[in-house]
Amino acid sequence: MAKPDWHRLGPVETLKQQSLQAITVEGKPVALSWADGRFGAIAGRCLHAGGPLGLGTLKNGYVACPWHGWTYQRETGEGEPGSTDAVPRYLLKEEGGDLYIDLASATHPRPASHLLHPLARRPERADGPLRLVGISTTVMDRQAPRYSTSEDLLGVALEAASSEGAETRLIRLNDLKFRACEGYYSKSAQACTWPCSITQMDDKDELAAVYEALVHWADVVLIATPIRWGNASSLYFKLIERMNCIQNQITTRNRVLIRNKVAGFIITGGQDNVQSVAGEMMMFFGELGFTFAQFPFVGHSRGWSAEDMENNMAAVKADEELRQGTRALARRCLERARDLVATGAGPARTERGGRKANAGFGKSPGPD
Ligand code: FES
Repeated sequence: MAKPDWHRLGPVETLKQQSLQAITVEGKPVALSWADGRFGAIAGRCLHAGGPLGLGTLKNGYVACPWHGWTYQRETGEGEPGSTDAVPRYLLKEEGGDLYIDLASATHPRPASHLLHPLARRPERADGPLRLVGISTTVMDRQAPRYSTSEDLLGVALEAASSEGAETRLIRLNDLKFRACEGYYSKSAQACTWPCSITQMDDKDELAAVYEALVHWADVVLIATPIRWGNASSLYFKLIERMNCIQNQITTRNRVLIRNKVAGFIITGGQDNVQSVAGEMMMFFGELGFTFAQFPFVGHSRGWSAEDMENNMAAVKADEELRQGTRALARRCLERARDLVATGAGPARTERGGRKANAGFGKSPGPD
């Protein structure tokens, strides 16, 4: 048994004032609690993603992590009933009105028993033909679907890709039930995890299909959006906020999840702003790690005063040049992807500094 290593924490009466607090002893974070007439001390870092347990909440004898809610018994460190996780716990003693902790008494942590999420596997391209996923971000009444110009053109692109020998998938975001990003990144960059915190916590959230396609399956992603008041659709923004977890792996772990993949865009609007929407989409997908074919989008707009939307729909349906341009976009993206897959040229890490993030943040690369 290790020799005790007692450290004074402070006056008992003062420490009783908070039911849960984060303290640091000899550089070790500790979650110190006071309830039912007893102190408890457990390690202060959550087994999930390192959340600060001492800043969490205390309920029914359990400390809940402030980041994603994993819980640990406040005196034993055992995870919630039914789990086998445990963070170390420490012995405490009161002497002369002061509280002491024995750092040498720490029990061994038991790693998280929660199953690794399937998305967490190392991204590795499976052999086979090129693969293209089309993502429609158009919102419509599910019960009474309507004609969508951007989704129509996306279908044209998928057919063209198919005829080039590529495997294709179509994902309509409108068909998926998924939660909006809840801002884990705003608590801490480390709290925004890969796979997405929501995906890990909520198996009813259906965005996993999109993550699977983008990170693991597809060589090409084509995003189709209408223009709404000069911007991409609201579903597009709901999607990309949830994609923060992919980009954040670069920031926090210098880990590039998207490599040797190509993004292209189909942007249609009754009125203006194709260029602005394309610029935003290229910026975001570039930040995820996608590259682009030469001329990476097709756009269509009949101009500011063209409010006769029924004619806009008819115009897109009848516009064979627009369809040819869309087919050509699919082919360009596939050609670019073919080159990338052949050379495997994309970097698995990024240079630090001058972009997210500098060397002082997340400098130790995580495993792939
Ligand atoms: S629950 Fe603690 S870090 Fe996720």
